[in-house]
Amino acid sequence: MTRVDFTNITKDSLGTAGLADEDFNSIDIKKLNELFGAGAKAGLGFFDLPGQDVSSVITAVKKTAQFDNFLVLGIGGSALGPRSILDALSPLHNLRKKPRVFIYDNVDPMTLESIFSIIDLKNTAVNVITKSGSTAETIASFMIIWHRLKELNLKPADHLIITTDPEKGSMRKIADEYKITALDLPPAVGGRFSVLSPVGLLMAGAAGVDIEALLEGSAHMHTVCMQKDLYKNPAYLFAASVYLMNKKFSRTTTVLVPYADRLKSFSEWFCQLWGESLGKDGTGLSPYPSVGTTDQHSQLQLWMEGPNDKVIVFIAVDDYGTDIRMPDEFAGLDAMGYLSGHTLAELIKTEQEATEIALTKKSRPSITVRVPAIDAFHLGQLFHFFEAATAAAGFLFGINPFDQPGVEEGKNLTYGMMGKKGYEDKAAEFAEYRKKSSRLVI
Ligand code: PA5
Repeated sequence: MTRVDFTNITKDSLGTAGLADEDFNSIDIKKLNELFGAGAKAGLGFFDLPGQDVSSVITAVKKTAQFDNFLVLGIGGSALGPRSILDALSPLHNLRKKPRVFIYDNVDPMTLESIFSIIDLKNTAVNVITKSGSTAETIASFMIIWHRLKELNLKPADHLIITTDPEKGSMRKIADEYKITALDLPPAVGGRFSVLSPVGLLMAGAAGVDIEALLEGSAHMHTVCMQKDLYKNPAYLFAASVYLMNKKFSRTTTVLVPYADRLKSFSEWFCQLWGESLGKDGTGLSPYPSVGTTDQHSQLQLWMEGPNDKVIVFIAVDDYGTDIRMPDEFAGLDAMGYLSGHTLAELIKTEQEATEIALTKKSRPSITVRVPAIDAFHLGQLFHFFEAATAAAGFLFGINPFDQPGVEEGKNLTYGMMGKKGYEDKAAEFAEYRKKSSRLVI
């Protein structure tokens, strides 16, 4: 069972820099309960994912099994989720298993060319993931793949699986017209909350991950996160802690630091979820993706003695699934002898706790999420916990955690400059910008 330890956010641990009961009492729990109770009507469509019917995903997984390669085209929520599942549950996947998985989530030509130099499209399933069907990056790579399939006389329907809105958008039209297998991305589930929809589940199944266990974990966490009492609901208490830390002590940054290499991509997934959901109306919390112990030798100095503007969120792991004992070598050397007989898991766990203690001694707030193991069940719990906590934090900050109006202007300017109909004024604005003075370009 995943547990969340809030001790080091309180006055008991941090003295005057910590939160007291009266701070937590100021949280409008009634409002949170109303919104969580409303589920999809309040934007919380991901609440329904644990109970979804996965039969179409399983059928699509079978289609991928005949291929050596599985290529995902998508960006943002349509890529970070699949990658975090792959890295957490099938590390070094491409060196050990088939189909090999490639996730192309940019429009860097060198990356795509490199993928093409490794895979044979004849032997590749391509999963195009875009909820809107209009994201320039995904559409661009889809067009290239489509053309290459045609050049190779391959039938797109044999290779493509499209994950998109059940009714709307260009990709749905193409799927219908060319009879391409299509998986539904429920309209009520936002991109960054979609990892446990077909967005993440198809890749998970193709990579041999137990998708039922992922959903069981999220279902279990959902029950816990529906508790109406602040002190029984870890999503509420997490949201309340970072919100109060922000309002009372100006803590503006949330650092996620899992002590496991396998959760490094999870950190990046969290950053999109947290950043895009909460950064609105001049408010929000800046996420920072990290990994322990590695970042103890990169960032910890800053967290300990730099600006006191952070809440550190540890993910501690009880069972790494394996362990290696340090051998009895160089016993006479002070730098080495003390390690003999201990294990790597013991060392990483000790370092996590030591960092927690060191931060607390400096009155630097932290929260520890403790997972028993990194397996499908507990990863499902982690996804659901952080999604519920993000939604709750958005509600507390009084913003809409499910939209992203701030990304539109850059998109519109790009549309204009790339010649999309209806965006001529943006093209003109863009061209004007390029005329800017070069006085300070050195
Ligand atoms: O969270 C979101 O909604 C976004 O980050 C999207 O996931 C991202 O922009 C990709 O959108 P789409 O799936 O429509 O291509």
